[in-house]
Amino acid sequence: MLWREELEEVKAIVTREILRAIEENVRPEGLAKASAHLIKGGGKRLRPYLVVEVGRSLGANLDRLLPGAMAVEFIHNFSLIHDDIMDNDQFRRGIRTVHTLWGVPTGILAGDVLYALAFTSLGKLREVGVRASRVQMAYEELSKAVLRLAVGQGLDMTFPKMRKVRISSYIEMIGLKTGALFECSAKLGAIIADGKRRTISKMGVFGRYIGIAFQIIDDILGIFGDERVTGKPVGSDIREGKKTILVLYTLKKAEKSEKKLLLRTLGKRDARRSEISKAISVIERSGAKEYAMGVARKYALKAVAALDALPDGPHKEHLKGLAEFIIEREF
Ligand code: IPE
Ligand code: IPE
Ligand code: MG
Ligand code: MG
Repeated sequence: MLWREELEEVKAIVTREILRAIEENVRPEGLAKASAHLIKGGGKRLRPYLVVEVGRSLGANLDRLLPGAMAVEFIHNFSLIHDDIMDNDQFRRGIRTVHTLWGVPTGILAGDVLYALAFTSLGKLREVGVRASRVQMAYEELSKAVLRLAVGQGLDMTFPKMRKVRISSYIEMIGLKTGALFECSAKLGAIIADGKRRTISKMGVFGRYIGIAFQIIDDILGIFGDERVTGKPVGSDIREGKKTILVLYTLKKAEKSEKKLLLRTLGKRDARRSEISKAISVIERSGAKEYAMGVARKYALKAVAALDALPDGPHKEHLKGLAEFIIEREF
């Protein structure tokens, strides 16, 4: 099977089972609908795929890996609903965001529902034959990841108010807000498949580094992407004053007049489209995109090097395919 075919397989099963869990557990109907909204809207399901590919490469089957795969996608969607509230975003996956349709209180609660269902899902690992000590490890890994994700989101929110942010601080921040869940996903695959400690730790390195590469590309697509393809608003990071790698590079390298032009719009919530376009042109002229692509490629390469801990075979190749996709993707 090609890696994309396998992704489609994982996507269909994870989506079906997540929707089933919401239907069986959530009341009233409005909250159930709000909780299922983004899942029904689409999404790539890369984190569950990571759980499954790492696990399969170590000999585990899909039934055994499924509770872990569902858990990371539950956490991901919880974080997206809350992130859209924090970032003031109107659409995602090409559809309206949860809080714009149901209001912020229901958005918060729908996020909480998905958060809880992630841990409920891990509880199913016992039923599919995973040892108690490994289930315990899985719980610890997931709770650690959610905490790091929250710390990363906290840093992301403080950066707009700071005058100077180092690129190394940005890398640390995205390693937490995005890298932690990728790291946890790859580790869960190895934990559930009864992998050795060294393998689990190497998979953590793989996950964290592709997570960092992934977020850099996400930030590039947030400025230079096509909204119809990404399903997310272009320029929202500028309106929110986000210190992405593109902005940091431009503020460091561009000429004074160019910087002034960018700073005029950065963080201006009511900026018009024409102002956003001008800010984007400044970023483009600075060469920030090429720089950021280079950094993303570097992390993807470091990630792939960690795959040496896995036995050779199709699943390891699929994980290499995933690392390539993360760099080349347009959505
Ligand atoms: C979006 O993640 C949020 C980030 C961490 C950048 P994805 O791009 O994986 O979102 P979906 O699940 O495919 O919509
Ligand atoms: C994504 O942050 C990280 C989490 C949701 C935890 P962003 O705010 O950069 O992601 P998008 O672009 O909204 O998906
Ligand atoms: Mg966001
Ligand atoms: Mg955000």
